[in-house]
Amino acid sequence: MQDLNELSAVIAQIKQEITDGFATLESSKAVYEFKKLFMDSKSGKIGALMKEMKNIANESKAAFGKGVNDLKAWANEKFDELDAKLKEQEALARYENEKIDITMPAVKCKCGKLHPVTQVRNQLIDIFSSMGFEVFEGSEIETDFYNFTALNTPQDHPARDMQDTFYLSPEFLLRTQTSAGQIHVMEKQQPPIKILSPGKVFRSDDDATHSPMFTQMEGLVVDKNITLCDLKGMLDELVRKIFGEGTTTRLRPSYFPFTEPSVEVDVSCFECGGKGCRLCKGTGWIEVLGAGIVNRKVLANCNIDPDVYSGLAFGIGIERLAMLKYGINNIKLLYESDLRVLEQIDD
Ligand code: DAH
Repeated sequence: MQDLNELSAVIAQIKQEITDGFATLESSKAVYEFKKLFMDSKSGKIGALMKEMKNIANESKAAFGKGVNDLKAWANEKFDELDAKLKEQEALARYENEKIDITMPAVKCKCGKLHPVTQVRNQLIDIFSSMGFEVFEGSEIETDFYNFTALNTPQDHPARDMQDTFYLSPEFLLRTQTSAGQIHVMEKQQPPIKILSPGKVFRSDDDATHSPMFTQMEGLVVDKNITLCDLKGMLDELVRKIFGEGTTTRLRPSYFPFTEPSVEVDVSCFECGGKGCRLCKGTGWIEVLGAGIVNRKVLANCNIDPDVYSGLAFGIGIERLAMLKYGINNIKLLYESDLRVLEQIDD
């Protein structure tokens, strides 16, 4: 470069380049890169102008220097302005992105929960534990002796027909009733006895209200002077807690080989309050469990003196209770693990 005229042209051209370039810059990072092209002290176009000073006549040096410095100041101001503007826009965009809308519905997290059969089982255990019962869990494979014979149901006893049994061998079977637990407990322990025995039982039975595998809860109380009144009192308390205040029970004569007398226990219909509806088939009562006073022979089989002690026993079908409680009409729905069904069932 030789003179000031030439400098003016270059300054004008650089200003134009910068102004044109600004129209294309969309981020503060791009501004930074673009600025380097001009302002970098070594490689920048404005920085390079200063190096031309040596070619300029002495009397023009001052004016040349001022021209370049003015250009530098102008460019700095322009770059700072654009940089500040873009940084503000970027900050706003970031705030917008990070904004939390507290009016949005929360993302629902699907929590697992206990199966209805387990819920009812646990509720029964809670209620009976509060009455002083302890839990005894027997095994699902039993001997014929514990499942039948010791419960006063010897071979060829007609009551065996009440339960279609899965035999594993002539001696072993899948227990058909948790009543087998009574014998195990009474064999090991003298009264007072107050146990609950929950667990799976198995029968060759399959329709809308029966399944080859289902769950029972056995109760056994043995002590001095135990009567049917104790049973009735406990069961009234039980149904009030499960089906609500005002629910009561009635006992109907029945037959089980291991109890004498034996009863079927009905609960007053919690749907219609006893007036009669579809659920109770117009009777006002719903059958819920079997029970009775432990047969003297069963106590004697376990070396408990029936002249000193008496006992009460009951067996509850947990699925049946769950079906009544949650209004389910097919037992299979409880086993299909269909979440659409299970999600609707809750306390
Ligand atoms: N074990 C009986 C059944 O499975 C239910 C039952 C009835 C249990 C009367 C008892 C009882 O303890 O006393 O059908």
